[in-house]
Amino acid sequence: MKEGCREAAMPCVLVIFGASGDLTRRKLLPALFDLERQKLLPEPLTVIGTSRSPGDDDQWRGQARACIEERFGALNPADEKAWSRFAQRLHYQAGSYADPDAYARLYHYITATCSCRCQENVLFYMALPPSVTEVVLGQIGRSAFASAGRTGAGHRVLMEKPFGTDLQSARRLNELVSRVFAERQIYRIDHYVAKDTVRNLMVFRFTNAIFEPLWNRQHVDHVQITAAESLDVEGRGSYYEEAGVVRDMLQNHVLQVLSLVAMEPPLAGDEESIRDRKNDVFKALLPPEPADFVFGQYDGYRGDKGVAPESVTPTFAAVRVFINNWRWQGVPFYIRSGKAMSRKLTEVVIRFRSVPLCVLGSATACAAVQPNTLFLQIQPREGIRLSFNAQEPGPGDMVGQTHLTFDYQDFGRVMPESYARVVLDALLGKPALFWRADSIEAAWAFAEPLLQAQARLPAGLFPNYRRGEDGPAAGHELLRQDGRVWLSE
Ligand code: BG6
Repeated sequence: MKEGCREAAMPCVLVIFGASGDLTRRKLLPALFDLERQKLLPEPLTVIGTSRSPGDDDQWRGQARACIEERFGALNPADEKAWSRFAQRLHYQAGSYADPDAYARLYHYITATCSCRCQENVLFYMALPPSVTEVVLGQIGRSAFASAGRTGAGHRVLMEKPFGTDLQSARRLNELVSRVFAERQIYRIDHYVAKDTVRNLMVFRFTNAIFEPLWNRQHVDHVQITAAESLDVEGRGSYYEEAGVVRDMLQNHVLQVLSLVAMEPPLAGDEESIRDRKNDVFKALLPPEPADFVFGQYDGYRGDKGVAPESVTPTFAAVRVFINNWRWQGVPFYIRSGKAMSRKLTEVVIRFRSVPLCVLGSATACAAVQPNTLFLQIQPREGIRLSFNAQEPGPGDMVGQTHLTFDYQDFGRVMPESYARVVLDALLGKPALFWRADSIEAAWAFAEPLLQAQARLPAGLFPNYRRGEDGPAAGHELLRQDGRVWLSE
């Protein structure tokens, strides 16, 4: 083995299946380039794109350059240097996903061109639709990368979202992938977990002694999690028709955020300890009853490209969620997500209980007192805000609300792209930010009643909402029934 290879306990080859696809162009190549210019890519690293489209290294490099410029604009001189390094890493191999020969050529190519025994150290990136992913997994298991159907311990597989479309298909996919890769080699992606503000949920809760004692049913009235987008389905209608908001956002991104808000402290900081405690939350989620959720669809969705004229695919959902454990018994977690809403906003709101008795001696002042509310702002205005009551200045005894705020900008650093972060962790072999098999199945089990209801939605009775609104009226009604309102900042 060459000098410099020894510490490379990470893959030195990244193989991207679906190299000419939308995901690779829009997300993956820009993320990799971003890591390159920050000099964060592990060395040595070769990136081999593969897809059915004919092409060669130069063509693929040209495509990569185009999508990087589309994402970051014209490259400055420093970026140009990074580009030269990056381009050298990129290679392309065309082939049919079902053709064993394509895998033999890939193996041969890696063995022949790469030092450091790279053929034993490959990250396979599935930037493919689920049905094609299954074909590729089967072929990898039969190829020279595997022995008796299973790959060596140095290989990893990165599975793109959506991981399955319901509980049954997720189980099937887990079963398929686990025939070829051990659980520790499987990286099921969720880019929300890599957002610094989402990662901060654990830091905030478990490093600040003043909050955790209040983080339970005795002190928290309810929790709200919003993941709203102002964008619509942006031409991805045919994908979205199959997905809808439950599969696209709720079952994965929103539940990941929820698990970090609700989890018990992990035994230690290693990834399995953390994933164990998150898994406890997924397992404790009660399946929502029909009265616990509402759907909506933005006006005009049915006219979007790839969308059926009578589509009942929900683009908005709000759900009242209960976690059946000691800490959260009886505390509702209201979660919602939607496209074409008034603004992009991802936020967690912790509403604390009211004081037991107002002792201010003035009915007007007492009426003005509000429960404390903690806003954990995930994006786009990243920060934290804690509201509290204060004596208003002046001769009267009026109470007003004020707040303590923290703005992520105060750190004076750019928030990194979450996609780049997950790709880097997969390259470095750090699974903490990825879904584990048991958790993803538990999350799908939770989503089952929503998916069943979605499949039965009657076209005529669908609660529409206008673009730019915060979902349908029913989304507000869900909270109003409980004497509450959405509190987003
Ligand atoms: C993706 C969904 O997983 O997340 C998209 O498929 C959605 O529909 C996107 O727009 C939102 O991600 P972010 O990081 O922009 O909030």
